[in-house]
Amino acid sequence: MNFRTFLPSFVAVLLACGMLSVLWFGGKLEPSASTAAELSETAPAAGEALAEGGASSDLDRGKQVYKKANCVGCHKWHGGGGGGYGGAALSLRETILTEEYLVEVVACGRPGTGMPAFHRKAYKGYDCYGMTAAELGEDKPPKPAKRLSDADIARVAAYVIAKIKEKGDITKAQCADFWGEGARECKRFK
Ligand code: HEC
Repeated sequence: MNFRTFLPSFVAVLLACGMLSVLWFGGKLEPSASTAAELSETAPAAGEALAEGGASSDLDRGKQVYKKANCVGCHKWHGGGGGGYGGAALSLRETILTEEYLVEVVACGRPGTGMPAFHRKAYKGYDCYGMTAAELGEDKPPKPAKRLSDADIARVAAYVIAKIKEKGDITKAQCADFWGEGARECKRFK
């Protein structure tokens, strides 16, 4: 091969290398995107570790949500339910719902009952029993006094599971746990 024939092929090889490297580094973008996906996959695990480490403070926040969203108003502090201004609220002590369904009921409410939908996007973006507000019409659950974030809905559901569901008879200790030691509300409990 003399120089004249070499030069064009050399240029061609250079060009090819350039294109290959563009493809290569372009391809590199993919792995970095998948690292992001990996990161978001490991995020829940990190969250779980956090929840374990700060389990009691998470439950405390769940209790604060239970108060500020006024679950107390209808279900009572002990979750026993009964007649409230929203009609007869079911007993959360005797509920058979799992945490997953608790999240759904709190987020979406119960159509045709007084149980409000606490999620801002319930029935419009946030899937609720596969139904839309238009389909529900009159049966659309009432607006809550206060909307809750996804995180707060998860916290209050975890709180109900940990502190209310299947807790048997209402005790003074449970009451003190909710209202604080020596609270007047707790005098009548043993
Ligand atoms: C305005 C009154 C009202 C408020 C406030 C309210 N609820 Fe309810 N809730 C009800 C009523 C009424 C029902 C019964 C619905 C039915 O008949 O299916 C109910 C049902 C439920 C259920 C279903 C129980 C089961 O076993 O099926 C859960 C869970 C629940 N409420 C949790 C909560 C939580 C947690 C809060 C606070 C974030 C809350 N509720 C706030 C009135 C209320």
